[in-house]
Amino acid sequence: MLVPVLLSGGVGSRLWPVSRELHPKQLLPLAGELSMLQETLRRTRGLEAAPPVVVCNEDHRFMVAEQLRQVGAEPAALILEPAGRNTAPAVALAALQLQATDPEAVMLVLPADHLIQQVDAFAEAVARALPLAQSGRLMTFGVVPDRAETGYGYIRCGSELSTGVFELEQFVEKPDSDTAQGYLDSGDFLWNSGMFLMRAATYLEQLEAQAPAMMAACREAMAGAASDMDFVRPDAEAFRACPADSIDYAVMEHTALGGVAALDCGWSDIGAWSALWEVAERDESGNVVAGDVLLDNCTGSYLRSESRLVAATGVSDLVVVETADAVLVADRNKVQDVKRLVNALKAQS
Ligand code: GDD
Ligand code: MG
Repeated sequence: MLVPVLLSGGVGSRLWPVSRELHPKQLLPLAGELSMLQETLRRTRGLEAAPPVVVCNEDHRFMVAEQLRQVGAEPAALILEPAGRNTAPAVALAALQLQATDPEAVMLVLPADHLIQQVDAFAEAVARALPLAQSGRLMTFGVVPDRAETGYGYIRCGSELSTGVFELEQFVEKPDSDTAQGYLDSGDFLWNSGMFLMRAATYLEQLEAQAPAMMAACREAMAGAASDMDFVRPDAEAFRACPADSIDYAVMEHTALGGVAALDCGWSDIGAWSALWEVAERDESGNVVAGDVLLDNCTGSYLRSESRLVAATGVSDLVVVETADAVLVADRNKVQDVKRLVNALKAQS
């Protein structure tokens, strides 16, 4: 059975001041009427998939449950992490949960903070990748890169296994900027979209081989899990003791079973304010506005107001985000550094 596994664990600190620990970006309607979690769920409708498994932080359980209800999604389980240990353990919890009832379960791992413009093309890529996942490959979805982004993983494709599906020859997570530029120039690499398709059993075998301490901690956490309606709570002590790492570093960089399906579907990871500027419709001067905003002679800017009128004149390539208790002003090309601001704020408080 194909089971969507939604990862909803990030904090989204680069989307401060709208995204906050208790209201993280994936639960907010940042790019439309639905939250990105709800959009992600909706996208799985056309896939003939089983009910989803959602992995999120304990603190977000009611908000997540309510958002699922709003879009009529009945989850197979909501796995609640007492603390985030990054994506490799989060996926392991879902895999262990699924394997208990269906040894052949194939997980479609979906971050809850991505936008996809052409849902049909996404579904078609999943369909192409499925037979390979069923036969024991860890399938990734590769996007043609258009810049030397250092926040992504890069995949070198090998021989073609079936139409648009390739052997994964090399996986490099978050290379430095020179390396990323080299990969871009070579034309041999795709970005890892961060979505995966694989049998739960294959993932667990690979995790056991690559990160046995992590596997042992997740096994112990799920062996001691408590269930309460849809909520599944792994044993907190065991899970807190689990080493933290991403699926990319812990598994994908090392596995010999990787594959990659080419994905061309208007994919973007809404990681920072510049991404929202990129995906939204811009006016003739290249501005994107949300809320009560008045512009005069501005270009290439993203302005968002939540509680007051925001007015700007004569500025270019700026991000201004206004909320009731904080206003962000940033160079649109430096919005990755918002994370630094948030860390500085945390250190102050
Ligand atoms: N449940 C849960 N628990 N979810 C988590 C956790 C966790 O501890 N940590 C992260 N997530 C969720 C995030 O909310 C996000 O939806 C997804 O997992 C990926 O985590 P990110 O932290 O956003 O990863 P990244 O963007 O730096 O890198 C990944 O995505 C890139 C594409 O967007 C990697 O897979 C890269 O290789 C890839 O290029
Ligand atoms: Mg991300």
